[in-house]
Amino acid sequence: MNILLLGSGGRESALAWKISQSPRTSKLFIAPGNGGTGAYGTNVAISPTDFPAIAGFVKENAIDMIVVGNEDPLVKGIWDYFKGDDSVLVVGPSQAGAALEGSKDFAKGFMIRHNIPTARYRSFTSETLEDGYAFLESLKAPYVLKADGLAAGKGVLIIDNLDEAKASLKEMLGGMFGASSATVVIEEFLSGIECSVFVLTDGKDYRVLPVAKDYKRIGEGDTGLNTGGMGAVSPVPFADEAFMAKVTERIIEPTVKGLAEEGITYRGFIFLGLINVEGEPMVIEYNVRMGDPETEAVMLRVDGDLVDLMAAAAAGDLGDRELLHDPRTAVTVMMVSGGYPGSYGKGYEISGLDEVTDSIVFHAGTKRDEADRVLTSGGRVLSVSSYGDSIADALARSYDSIGHIKFDKANFRRDIGRDLMALEK
Ligand code: AMP
Ligand code: GLY
Repeated sequence: MNILLLGSGGRESALAWKISQSPRTSKLFIAPGNGGTGAYGTNVAISPTDFPAIAGFVKENAIDMIVVGNEDPLVKGIWDYFKGDDSVLVVGPSQAGAALEGSKDFAKGFMIRHNIPTARYRSFTSETLEDGYAFLESLKAPYVLKADGLAAGKGVLIIDNLDEAKASLKEMLGGMFGASSATVVIEEFLSGIECSVFVLTDGKDYRVLPVAKDYKRIGEGDTGLNTGGMGAVSPVPFADEAFMAKVTERIIEPTVKGLAEEGITYRGFIFLGLINVEGEPMVIEYNVRMGDPETEAVMLRVDGDLVDLMAAAAAGDLGDRELLHDPRTAVTVMMVSGGYPGSYGKGYEISGLDEVTDSIVFHAGTKRDEADRVLTSGGRVLSVSSYGDSIADALARSYDSIGHIKFDKANFRRDIGRDLMALEK
């Protein structure tokens, strides 16, 4: 098959790495890709949301399948755009399905309709601001306020103080996140450890990918600002057989069935952001794509032909294909630009990549100059992934590899996976 992968981050590098290993892959193109994806295919300078340009490229290059890495094209309806074209498969949900990520209000309503465990909530607009204040008063601190629409991962505020929460509600409804926060979901705070469960569905059947945990905050000990993700670990010790049985029965099956019942076409990845509340899984959020940086660990543990599985899912026929999990542990540690997630410099030369032998380095915010030197071009720069017999073993390899990689003002978290090591048997 000829495959077009959309996106430019570490997640897309890991997907490209996996796709390029499949015997079913003839040509792989990545739009727009980054400074590392050229190792797996051909970068093409097309924006993932420029549907007419994508359609032109698909025709000219006889593309058989589009794999959508990031949420934007899905929420903007790329699946529906190509719906009438039988010559190309799109791995992803229809626009209606993408609302699971594109609208928190829709996602919460969906979970209530299908009895899927999630935090108690209500949604408010500027017309119902006073009701919002009253709802906040009925909850205990901390208060969780979420912009309804996409806000580049920044639309969730968790606030300890009631007066501040009220002020933030007013600001959000007043346009703090533009149109995304014209509706705000307020929900009960849940306390527990989070994990990310990924499901590939054809709309009827599904397969569960290896479970991962990501580390979102910039600082060690989960402190400081939220980032796009500083590292990930798979498997997650507490996501054992008993926990996953509950996830399957209470969350995955009602989700896949609920989508079908509501007449929503969904042929792609579902990302369940879960929290383990005293052994009981609850849904924090849905995303309609793979996670970043979870994918940079999870792809190492997908044993078998992901292209075959994605093509079958996109065609609506997973059949009896198996998705096997590699028993080894996989981790990824993200190297970021100093200053990120605040302001940071770009264009620093990266050296030492050739000296890495024990890890797989996935590029994220990198580009190449005319002399083919690799330069930093974003906040999250490189994802350093490794296998191991345990979390500690895999992490030792990633940290050792990081020791060889140099760029100005590089930063990374030294405590990825530390909270899970204690839980490992
Ligand atoms: P979201 O964008 O919905 O994933 O929210 C971002 C982060 O906020 C999550 O990964 C959680 O760490 C946290 N969060 C969201 N909702 C809740 C909640 N109801 N209780 C506790 N933490 C939450
Ligand atoms: N790692 C969380 C996300 O991809 O949204």
